[in-house]
Amino acid sequence: MGVILATSRSFSDGDLDLVSRAESAGHVVVRGPAHHDLAELRPLLRDADAWIAGTGPVTAEHLAAAPRLAVIARYGVGTEAVDLAAARSRGIPVTNTPGANADAVADHAVGLMLAALRGIADGDRRVRAGDWAVRRGRELGAATVGIVGFGRIGQGVAKRLSGFGSRILASDPFLPDDAVRAAGAEPATLDALFRTADVITLHAPGGQRLVDAERLATIRPGAVIVNTARPDLVDEAALATALRTGGLAAYAADTLDGDTAASASPLLAADLGDRVTVTPHLGAQTTQAVDNMGRMALDNALAVLRGEGPIHPVR
Ligand SMILES: NC(=O)c1ccc[n+]([C@@H]2O[C@H](COP(=O)([O-])OP(=O)(O)OC[C@H]3O[C@@H](n4cnc5c(N)ncnc54)[C@H](O)[C@@H]3O)[C@@H](O)[C@H]2O)c1
Repeated sequence: MGVILATSRSFSDGDLDLVSRAESAGHVVVRGPAHHDLAELRPLLRDADAWIAGTGPVTAEHLAAAPRLAVIARYGVGTEAVDLAAARSRGIPVTNTPGANADAVADHAVGLMLAALRGIADGDRRVRAGDWAVRRGRELGAATVGIVGFGRIGQGVAKRLSGFGSRILASDPFLPDDAVRAAGAEPATLDALFRTADVITLHAPGGQRLVDAERLATIRPGAVIVNTARPDLVDEAALATALRTGGLAAYAADTLDGDTAASASPLLAADLGDRVTVTPHLGAQTTQAVDNMGRMALDNALAVLRGEGPIHPVR
């Protein structure tokens, strides 16, 4: 019997009963705090054979407190909070759950495109204020959609858009043109995509600035931008300016710079309320994604505890 420490808040909180599954494999699941506070975790780490780790830090000190630990199974994709070098030096494999929330986020990106093109959130707010005036929108099938970052989520968006009949461009410097075409999009440089697309949707990793004033100066009049990726990909002040001057018709995002301190974002200014739609970073929050992340994390943990190699190792 092994002890599986689960510190992700939503582990086994979807439709799948993953705790029972772990128990029928002969293990016991114990819960720990999602923030990974070492003082609180220390007694739990002492007996843990596997760790289904949430987004809190996994440091060399955590690992030193876990003499039995055989695997760190990240619940999610990102491993930036895990000290990979420390894990490697202790011979503990780290795994993640690639693609577990790709459908959830791709759905949401298409939802935000429709919200931006049809003024759905703005329409709801106006009706509640007694304003039933109709504003004309545009159809997604008539739009050229530029997908920036053609990985799991970007390709999921392309799959969905093929049903709408949109022309689809994709820019991804790390993907060969043939692979882009095979996934249903026309390869384009970032510059060409920004000049051509009516809808620009961001699906590249954060840590880089892809949308700034210079690039916004090249977009088609009436273009809209959707961001379900990361807030640091865009210059929010430049977006606010482009929205006010009319260069950009709408911005719809699942994240704002600082997220919880978003009230400070220039994009939440009252005069932009009819052109900006924001959701509270809920893109990956579906029952299916919670099930996928939990199942994949548990499968990784069980595989290692059985003495097999991890299924989704992080290298
Ligand atoms: N809203 C949410 O809750 C949520 C959930 C999961 C992921 N995300 C974010 O969505 C984004 C995409 O995630 P994914 O799982 O599809 O990742 P992925 O790694 O499968 O795909 C990212 C793609 O972006 C490409 N890329 C890197 N730099 C680029 C650039 N400068 N221009 C164009 N393409 C570039 C990469 O080659 C890769 O193909 C990430 O930013 C991720 O953090 C958001």
